[in-house]
Amino acid sequence: MTDPGRLELSRDEMRALGYLVVDTLVEHFERMGEISPAGRGERAELESLLREPPPEQGTDPADLVRFLREQVFTRILHVDHPRFFAFVPSPSNFVAVMADALASGFNGFVGSWFSGSGMAQVELVVVDWLRQFCGLPEGAGGLFVSGGSMANLTCLAVARHVRLEDRMAGAVVYFSDQTHSSVERALRVLGWAGEQLTRLPSGEDFRLDLETLRRAVAEDRAAGRRPFCVVANAGTTNTGAVDPLADLARFCRAEDLWLHVDGAYGASAALAPEARAALAGLEEVDSLSLDPHKWLFQPFEIGCALVREERWLVETFRILPEYLRDVHRSEEEVNFCDRGVQLTRNFRALKLWMSLKAFGAAAFREAISRGLRLAEVAERRLRESGCFEVVTPAQLGVVSFRYAPPDLAAEEAEAINQRLVGAMLADGYAVVTSTLLRGRTVLRLCTINPRTTDQEIAETVRRLARLGENLPG
Ligand SMILES: Cc1ncc(COP(=O)(O)O)c(C=O)c1O
Repeated sequence: MTDPGRLELSRDEMRALGYLVVDTLVEHFERMGEISPAGRGERAELESLLREPPPEQGTDPADLVRFLREQVFTRILHVDHPRFFAFVPSPSNFVAVMADALASGFNGFVGSWFSGSGMAQVELVVVDWLRQFCGLPEGAGGLFVSGGSMANLTCLAVARHVRLEDRMAGAVVYFSDQTHSSVERALRVLGWAGEQLTRLPSGEDFRLDLETLRRAVAEDRAAGRRPFCVVANAGTTNTGAVDPLADLARFCRAEDLWLHVDGAYGASAALAPEARAALAGLEEVDSLSLDPHKWLFQPFEIGCALVREERWLVETFRILPEYLRDVHRSEEEVNFCDRGVQLTRNFRALKLWMSLKAFGAAAFREAISRGLRLAEVAERRLRESGCFEVVTPAQLGVVSFRYAPPDLAAEEAEAINQRLVGAMLADGYAVVTSTLLRGRTVLRLCTINPRTTDQEIAETVRRLARLGENLPG
C-alpha cells in the first residue's frame, strides 16, 4: 500500500483487488450447483478460526479474500443455490451484485434530493415500477427499506398515523395465525399492547377466514374497542397461502379499517400472469410490503413499503430539523428521509433498476413462472413417491408435505419428520426446512430459484424418501 495512513490503494492495487473479488464472485455463480448449499461451522471451530485481538498491522487484502473464500463463505447456507429450498430463498443475480458494488463504491446518500438527486430519481422510478406490477393506482408511492420486516413496520406506522393520528388507546389489529412474526414485532415496536393484537385462527386452507374476522370486529365494536387495521397475507411463509384479498378489501372499506398486506414473500408473483388470480385484490390495499430480495432476485437487503397515497409517508415521517434546512428547498424535490425511518440510506434501488433494465421485466416474469411451475413439479414428485403426504398443494412456489408411508404409526412419522431436516443437512445435497401446521411437523420446499432444474427437484424428493426410510421412528 502506497500510503496506508490515507487508507488508500494505488491504481494497480485497486484493480488487482477488484479483479480478484470479481473472479471470486464469478466462480461462486458459475460453480454454485457443483457444491453443497449446506455449508456450516460449529461455534468452537469458528471461534478458533476467527477470534483475535483487533489487528494492529495490515494484511494483503488479496490474502483476506482468499481466506474468506476458503474459510468463511464455505461455512454458510447458500441461499442463492438452486437446491436451497428452505425458508424463503434469495436467488439473486449477478447484475444486481455488481450494482451493489457500484452503489457502495459511489457511496451515495439517498436520504435527500440535495445529496443524491440522480439516485433519488432512480428510486422513484423503480418504486413506481413495483406499484405498477402490483396494480396500485397512480398516486401510490413508497420507498426501499432493508427488507420485509422494515417494510411492515413502515406501513403500519403510516396506518397508525393516518387512521389514528397516533392515538392507539383501544385500537385493535387483526391478522391470522399464519402471519409472519415481523408483523407482530412491528406492532409491538409501534407500541401496541398484546391485548390489542387479535390473532385469528386461519381456515382449513390456512387463509384468513372472513366470517371469523367479521365476528371478531363486531364483538370488539360491541365491547367499545376500536377495530382499526387488518393485516392480510399475500403468500404466507408456511404454505404460500394468500388471504382473500378482494373480500377483505371490500370488508375493510365497509368497516373503515386499514388493510395492510404483507406481500414480502408473494406479492412479487403479481408479475406472472398465472399468479394474478390468486393475488386478486392486491390493487385495493392501503399499504403493501414486498421484498425484492426474495422473489425479485436481488441480493440482501432490499424491501419495499408501498402506500396507497404517497403523501401519507411524508405526513407520517417528516420532521424538519434546523441542520437539514438546506435540504428542504422545494416540494418538487423528494427527500426519502421524509418518507421513512432512515436518514442515511444507501442506493438500494440501483440493483433492482439495473437488473430489470438488463434482463427486462419479461425475463423476471418468466423466472417467477418457473418458480411457480417447479413447486408443481415438486408436488407431483411427492405424490408419486407413495411415502409423502402433500399437506398443502403448490401455491405461490411453496409446497408443504410430510413423510408418511401408509404403514407408519403417527408418532413414528412425527419423529421422522422432525429428524429429516437434520438428515438432509448432513447429506448436503439440498437444504429443506420444516414448520408446524396444526401442531404437526411438516416439511416445505420453496422453489423460487429459476435456476433449479426438474431433475434437482426429483433428486431432492428421492433423497428425502431414502433418508426417511433409514431414520429411526
Ligand atoms: C411473509 C413474510 N413477511 C415478512 C418477512 C420478513 O422479511 P425480512 O426477513 O426481509 O425482514 C418474511 C421473511 O421471510 C416473510 O416471508
